Amino acid sequence: MAAELSKVLIFGGTGYIGQYMVRASVMMGHPTYVYARPITPNTGSSKLELHHEFISVGVTIFQGELDEHEKLVLVLQQVDVVISTLPFPQILDQFKIIDAMKIAGNIKRFFPSDFGNEEDRVIALPPFQAFLDRKKKIRRATEAAGIPYTFVSANCFGAYFVDYLLHPREQREEVIVYGSGEVKVVLNFEEDIAAYTIKAANDPRACNRMIIYKPPGNIVSQLDLISSWEKKTGRTLKKVHVSEEEIVKLSETLPHPDNVPVSILHNIFIKGEQTCFEPGEDYLEASKLYPDYMYTSIHSYLDRCTVNPMKVKLATFV
Ligand SMILES: NC(=O)c1ccc[n+]([C@@H]2O[C@H](COP(=O)([O-])OP(=O)(O)OC[C@H]3O[C@@H](n4cnc5c(N)ncnc54)[C@H](OP(=O)(O)O)[C@@H]3O)[C@@H](O)[C@H]2O)c1
Repeated sequence: MAAELSKVLIFGGTGYIGQYMVRASVMMGHPTYVYARPITPNTGSSKLELHHEFISVGVTIFQGELDEHEKLVLVLQQVDVVISTLPFPQILDQFKIIDAMKIAGNIKRFFPSDFGNEEDRVIALPPFQAFLDRKKKIRRATEAAGIPYTFVSANCFGAYFVDYLLHPREQREEVIVYGSGEVKVVLNFEEDIAAYTIKAANDPRACNRMIIYKPPGNIVSQLDLISSWEKKTGRTLKKVHVSEEEIVKLSETLPHPDNVPVSILHNIFIKGEQTCFEPGEDYLEASKLYPDYMYTSIHSYLDRCTVNPMKVKLATFV
């Protein structure tokens, strides 16, 4: 008899990357659960639609707040895997999930809300470093609690950054290039980030390990990306470079939280922190771990954009 598939609970499942996690978990046949804030008369129609979509594919939605401790414990006792995709302002709220997981005592794997640059390796400008330090606190608390974990560095969300850098839905004539534009970065399509995460959630090799999502077909510079887009669309774009000095200055002068996105851009596109180290033995790399999984390379994602660019949320990086 086939082994029973683990039950996957997602925090932040109605959010940008959380939706992909929910769909990937359902697609891979896992009983899937979402812990979401309660629906109220003020809940927007897009969130209501998502709840309906999830319910229609068999997802169980638990409505609750993160500080409802007893409710959290009861919910956690019904699942095996916990994936948190809570947004930046709620990063430290994950202590509430850790406290509840300690009491529940049954969680086989926890993914805290990391999913960006590898926070245990990179060194960033102060506004982004403060953001990373919060995520590191959650990693250390997870280890200290003895909860089996997988820590993920997903690098850039591909569709999100393609939209930010190229604006494929608009017929813009110019694009902004951060620094020289030659630094290599990693742009992973969101569906693949979610698929790798659900695979890792059920993979004993990924238990108590750090995984980096760095498939070779997704390593590009901004200039590579622009040139590929120009070839696909037959248009030539004017490149407006923003220097490192300007970005550093903005990170020092903009008020919080506006100083965070520029510091993230600096870390990715100027310092090149996604590609300046090779994941050694300390890390697993997703495309090596799952060589049979056909990820969407960033260049094929651009092909899709020429037909039907995705609408993505770009309000904030954090
Ligand atoms: N690598 C990248 O390129 C990249 C880009 C963006 C973000 N990220 C990272 O990805 C992770 C998730 O970010 P995201 O942008 O996907 O998140 P998001 O869409 O902003 O939010 C996720 C969900 O969190 C819940 N939430 C929001 N405010 C809350 C609150 N006050 N209390 C409790 N729950 C709340 C909401 O779900 P409910 O209303 O259903 O509860 C929301 O849908 C973060 O760690 C972020 O840093 C990485």
